[in-house]
This record gives sequence, C-alpha cells and structure tokens, in this order.
Amino acid sequence: MSSPQYIQFHDILVPSQAHSRESLEYAQNFSVEDTDVLAVTYPKSGTIWMQEILPLVLNEGDLTPIRTIPNWDRAPWLEETRLAVVVDQLKSPRALVTHLPYGLMPPSFHTSKAKAIYVMRNPMDILVSSYYFHQMAAFLEDPGTFDEFMDKFLEGRVMFGKWTDHVKSWRGSDLGDRIMFITYEELVEDLPASVRRISAFTGKNLDEDTVQTIAKNCTFSSMKSNQMSNFSLVPKTYMDHDKSPFFRKGVVGDWKNHFSSEQVSRFAAVIRKELEGASFSLPWSLE
Ligand code: A3P
Repeated sequence: MSSPQYIQFHDILVPSQAHSRESLEYAQNFSVEDTDVLAVTYPKSGTIWMQEILPLVLNEGDLTPIRTIPNWDRAPWLEETRLAVVVDQLKSPRALVTHLPYGLMPPSFHTSKAKAIYVMRNPMDILVSSYYFHQMAAFLEDPGTFDEFMDKFLEGRVMFGKWTDHVKSWRGSDLGDRIMFITYEELVEDLPASVRRISAFTGKNLDEDTVQTIAKNCTFSSMKSNQMSNFSLVPKTYMDHDKSPFFRKGVVGDWKNHFSSEQVSRFAAVIRKELEGASFSLPWSLE
C-alpha cells in the first residue's frame, strides 16, 4: 500500500512527517550507549507520558528540562529526524523514545546494556485514542468512520503496524532484566508507585520527595498545561487541538463509550486469535 502520509519501512508504515529514509537509516546505525534508557511503545499507549517521566527520573527530579525543552528534544525518538539534530545536546544517562518493533531495533541496542521500559495499554483504548489523534494530526491518513478505522487497526494498516505484532515482539524479547513492562493502567492507578518502580529499574533509587515531585509534574493536568509537553508549539496545520486535544481524556476504559457490542466481539476475537500461543496473557479483559 502506498500513501503520501507514510513511508514503508520493512513490514511497517511510519509517518513521513518527522521520519525520513535518512532518519530510519540513522536509527539503524545509531550507537546506543550502555547507560541509555528507552521508553518503548506502540503509538497511543502513553508514549508522551513516559517521555516526561523517564528523563525526570534519570536527572533525579531536575525540573529545568521540562520547563525549557520541548519533549521531542528532551527525549527524542530513535527513528525521527530530530535525533540527529539534538543528539550532541543529550546528557548521559540519555532518555530516548521509540515506536519500533523489537525486530527493527539497531544492532547496537542488542550488543549494549541499554535498558527499555515497555508501556502497554488496553488496545481498545489505544484504538479510541488513535481514532481521535488521526482526526487532529493532519499528517496522518483520515481515519474514516470508527468502524473503518477498527478494521485498519486490526489489519495493521496503520502507523507501526499491528498492535499484536508490536507487543509480541517486545514481550518475546530476550532482554531479561534489561526490560521492564508497565501498563498505562498502572500509571493511571498509582503514578508515585510507577515512578518508584522506574527509579528502581534504572538504578536511581530516588528519595520519596523526588518521587512525589516527579509524579506531581507528570499528572495529566500538569502535562496538559505545560507548553513544553502539550504540543501547543506545533503549528495548527500539523496538529489541530480544536479538533481533538492531544491531551484528550487520559482515562482508562473510554472504549466503553465508543464500541458497540458487535465491535467488542469482533475486536476481541481478532486480538485473541493473533495472541494464540503467545507466552504472555493480557492484563485486561477485552469485554
Ligand atoms: P487519550 O487519547 O485516551 O486521552 P501517546 O503519547 O502514546 O500518543 O498516547 C497518548 C495518550 O496518552 C492520550 O490518551 C493522552 O491523553 C494520554 N496521556 C498522556 N499523558 C498522560 C498523563 N499524564 N496522564 C494520563 N494520560 C496521559
């Protein structure tokens, strides 16, 4: 399938906005350092949230970067064009973000001791979030109706391919204690506890005051009002927050307001089939 909005990269589509053949090649040749920590997500799983939390944990709660540097430069995407521009300004330990499936990670990631934090979200809420995002992001294909978009999503005709392939690739990785899995729902349930887990995983072991400071600055409302994090600096021609704000609802279970019972059955049947034989089970019920 070819569409001006996307670049075909191996078996996935990536948006031509913010990505290029050169940036994808740059990512493949990138020198991942042992001290790097990557926030890994399928789009709309809580990427920007982890992009806010992770550098704050790594810099031990220094709020200056979230007040002065846009998120895409603070913790750049491995596969996006900005990385090459800002790479020399990143302080070690570096926080990076990626939507790449495990199989497309650069060789240096595999040979390094770098860590990864994989954020998973209920795919039904991802679908809803993505549906609205496709309406506000002019650089993505028009999603069509919710029903049409569901089909596209289930068939992987969306950016970064099928959700099930993405999750299986990372869940099936052999990274051992270099990878931590956390869900969007856990972040919503208890943000300070999640920050503590991330702090322990990254070897930072932050004190409680710092954990609380980070959690307070990473709530939905703090981030929504932070110009450096809420994408208000992006031209309206790319992201139109009047159509749907990037910080839309930030809740668990909004799918219940969007799926018909037929859609729930159809969606759940496809996801279950795709995950047959997988070495993990989903932490949510798909109904
Ligand atoms: P909704 O559209 O359901 O509101 P991504 O960053 O991967 O694109 O994911 C975007 C989703 O994460 C959006 O979900 C957004 O509102 C939500 N999100 C971002 N920051 C959040 C926060 N601090 N708390 C709760 N949800 C957050």
